[in-house]
Amino acid sequence: MTYVTGSHHVTLSVGHAQEDVDFHTKILGLRFIKKTVLYDGSAPVYHLYYSNANGDPSSVVTTFPWAQAGLYGTRGTNQAREVMLSVPERSLDFWASRLTEHGVECTPGDVFGSRRLNFRHPSGIEYVMVATAGDPREGFTGNGVAAEYAIHGIHGIGVHVYDQDRMVEFGNEVFFANGEIEEEGDRARFRVGEAAFGNFVELTGNRTDPQGTWRYGAGAYHHFAWNLDTLENQNEVKFDIEGAGYTDISELKDRTYFKSHYVRTPGGALFELAVTHNEGGWDCDESPEELGRAFMLPPRFEHERDSIMSRLEPLDS
Ligand SMILES: [Fe+2]
Repeated sequence: MTYVTGSHHVTLSVGHAQEDVDFHTKILGLRFIKKTVLYDGSAPVYHLYYSNANGDPSSVVTTFPWAQAGLYGTRGTNQAREVMLSVPERSLDFWASRLTEHGVECTPGDVFGSRRLNFRHPSGIEYVMVATAGDPREGFTGNGVAAEYAIHGIHGIGVHVYDQDRMVEFGNEVFFANGEIEEEGDRARFRVGEAAFGNFVELTGNRTDPQGTWRYGAGAYHHFAWNLDTLENQNEVKFDIEGAGYTDISELKDRTYFKSHYVRTPGGALFELAVTHNEGGWDCDESPEELGRAFMLPPRFEHERDSIMSRLEPLDS
């Protein structure tokens, strides 16, 4: 039995908002589906969401642009590092040309039998496109990238760790590792849950970088969310994780579009356990056609709308 169906979204701390929107929509061609704010803490910071054509769980990248608040992070070990995206099998030449045209340096790779393209977000965060055959998740074509090249969704999460063993133990014992551990060079990977795509955890041995930051700060990966099927099962998974001794797991947080617990893993990556509940979904406050156009706030922040908007950096999206 497994309650994790696959990935849900990736969340990053990036630099400035406009630069982030332009990178994800004008270069990567993703769909801008939600413009809101960070719900935790008192600093007004955007929360921006991007996805494939249909906003599928397992296709969403979200960002907090922290440069406005002057907060910067450090990429290092014992931290989530690479944003891994699944792209059509024969699209990497297209992407190499497109990235280069936009001034984004990229380098090819070949790991675990798949061709890859490595590049960086303007804030420095590492991105990897992985050529994937047969991925049925529909890429978004509305921002000028044809369907034969468009990003299907998430491929997985890259984590840099002092020692892979503790993270493998976590996956095997409490977090629905599915199938064998594969190893290649300094890397190991496993899959989580039953999904056919988008659920790789790739661990890179790294004993040379300093410890990466876990707090918010531009230029660092913040967390990776997994998709669970029901709120009841989510509660049961939390109970079991605590029962295994990983008691640093959060209370249930209402993120409007989904409800989540967060747990710090022994590899340093923060995992989120997300459920898109009956009242949630990207279209719970905007029509499916109008996603991302308006600035959305949860009801509890609505009375502060003018004040919040006046403290956010301008954004032409
Ligand atoms: Fe999240």
